Amino acid sequence: MVTSIQSSKEAWQRYRGMVPGGVASSLRGSAKPHPLFFARGYGSRLWDVDGNEYIDYLGAFGPMVLGHSHPAIVQAVLDVVPLMQMNGMCSLLEVDAAAAILSRIPRAERLLWSNTGTEAVQVALRLARAHTGRNRFVKFSGSYHGWHDTVYLGLDSDQASMSSIAAGMPGQNSSVLNDVVVLPFNDVSALKQALSRAGELDLAAVLLDPINSSGGVVEPSADFLGTMRQLCDDFGVVLIFDEVITGFRVALGGAAERWHVGPDLWTFGKAMAGGFSQSAIVGRAEVIDRTDRGFRHLGTYNGNPVAMAAIKASMEALSAPGSYDRLERNSNRFVAGMNRIFAEYSAPLVAHGIGSMIGLHSLVSAGGGPTGSTYLERLCAGLAERGVFMLPIGRVWVSMAHTESDIDETLTQVDGTVQGLR
Ligand SMILES: Cc1ncc(COP(=O)(O)O)c(C=O)c1O
Repeated sequence: MVTSIQSSKEAWQRYRGMVPGGVASSLRGSAKPHPLFFARGYGSRLWDVDGNEYIDYLGAFGPMVLGHSHPAIVQAVLDVVPLMQMNGMCSLLEVDAAAAILSRIPRAERLLWSNTGTEAVQVALRLARAHTGRNRFVKFSGSYHGWHDTVYLGLDSDQASMSSIAAGMPGQNSSVLNDVVVLPFNDVSALKQALSRAGELDLAAVLLDPINSSGGVVEPSADFLGTMRQLCDDFGVVLIFDEVITGFRVALGGAAERWHVGPDLWTFGKAMAGGFSQSAIVGRAEVIDRTDRGFRHLGTYNGNPVAMAAIKASMEALSAPGSYDRLERNSNRFVAGMNRIFAEYSAPLVAHGIGSMIGLHSLVSAGGGPTGSTYLERLCAGLAERGVFMLPIGRVWVSMAHTESDIDETLTQVDGTVQGLR
């Protein structure tokens, strides 16, 4: 049981006098009663600055698929740090890390490094524009592709209209709204309608998070993915899978391996680098090999040796036989257990998993009770008091470090919390 979170509270109060909200990224502010400050992580566990231990289901929003402080990643990083930090040129680690990724992604031929998922998506869209000579792109309602002006729009899952796209936040450049067509996820006929007019609509790319993770964690239908691939081929549109969240998580080879449909370009980040900041744009040579035609790929930190060492070690650890089967089994155990408890106590929530990427969906409860979203906040706050950490954002990440007994211990705490919320 968590006893006191006073040191976290004091740190947050001090920090928010300097950094708005007292968090480095807005979503972290959803933690109730306030954000926690962590001092240490190992395996499936985190320890806060008050010394409390938690089973972690945030996984740093995705990167920690191998768990915290994976020994092979820690060692790889410790090996390189005393030798060099950056050199502004190249290192052999870049060669090894690029080969490690390309060999694990079906039909991937080329790779570019960048630092975050947001950056990688910008590079992929620019490559698509350079390749097609067109300007606009399709994205799907609810899907998040980073915070950049170009893509931080169409985030409301319920609203998909080619004529009414709203910017995601104040201060965005409004002219980018003209460059995007937002379609409903899994809607094959809307896709056909838009892509058959690709020339007229000036469409360079279709940008897809294959599970629409921020729009609810949705299984893509085979028809949706197959039609998308075919239409992109037929109408000369570049298909981009934004696998920043699904990459190295829903399967070693990501969504393309799991659903047997490959894009022209991929973006990867998060789980690829085991907690270090690096992303990659991967894809067909024909689309990426443009540097001879004036395309420039830039970035001081691209190919950072420390991140390269972490990527190489991550790729090896992720490839251990049985890793993904175990991850899937434990994730399914978590989802089934959560749903059993939610049903037993009529809690207004339902869990749905695509492997270890799990969505917690709100159901509005009958009889004027709490809506699922306020309920989720209370559930997460109650769980934190019992040493289980997740944020009320509707998404939960299980890692390869979570054991069956971690899951069972979690479910016991969920049962106790949900009972108490009745
Ligand atoms: C699908 C997807 N694309 C892009 C991003 C942006 O990545 P980053 O936070 O590294 O900029 C995210 C982050 O959650 C994501 O889920």
